[in-house]
Amino acid sequence: MGYCDIHCHIIPGVDDGSKDLAESIGMIEIAAKSGITDIILTPHYKPGRLEHSKERFFKELETLKKHVKDNGFDVNLYLGTELMFSEDCIELLENDKILSMNDSKHILVEFRPMDSAKYIKDCLYKITCCGYTPVLAHVERYVSMIEAYDDIEEIINRGALIQVNASSVIGKIGGKVKKFIKMLMKYDMLHFIGTDAHDIKERTPDMKKCADYIEKKFGKEYRDELLINNPVKYFNITR
Ligand SMILES: [Fe+2]
Repeated sequence: MGYCDIHCHIIPGVDDGSKDLAESIGMIEIAAKSGITDIILTPHYKPGRLEHSKERFFKELETLKKHVKDNGFDVNLYLGTELMFSEDCIELLENDKILSMNDSKHILVEFRPMDSAKYIKDCLYKITCCGYTPVLAHVERYVSMIEAYDDIEEIINRGALIQVNASSVIGKIGGKVKKFIKMLMKYDMLHFIGTDAHDIKERTPDMKKCADYIEKKFGKEYRDELLINNPVKYFNITR
């Protein structure tokens, strides 16, 4: 098994990610070439603003699976969502309206860039109280979380898991963030890496540079823990 991308916007026409089927196929091709063999598709779900039914997502999944097969890509696709947190989320989760990560009890959840550490901590805990394990999407994108190691430790101790974007690992959004993520790795405060890919040009599903960087800095075993073993362990991925 190759790498697993647990966060991307490859389903066409449902959010600000892939605009059509051709782009989705192009994205999957880029992913495959960068060593990814398993992809959890995580379209945005923003209560009251951007909502699609589970049925719609499953239909899109089947279409993409067919094209993956027709194109001969060695890639397996699974479904999840990236849930933008709001108070409405709790009721949606309780009523089973939100797709979890590959039908596990894990929910990928994002916040707004300026949300406070206290707000993020409290909201993640609310999700935990609904019986789900939250996966905090791209922790490096929240101003309040940069170098907030104590807050992140508290979040993990309360049962949540942490994801960062592959492009941030290799410094695409700056040296300060790159160093912050390196420290998360050093302190064992990171669980997953996703590409958070949106297209075939700017935000592509390329995992190779990130994987090579982790291998160089921390070794093959740790690279595989983040990119293969943890997704398999937490998200019921069987091959
Ligand atoms: Fe995303």
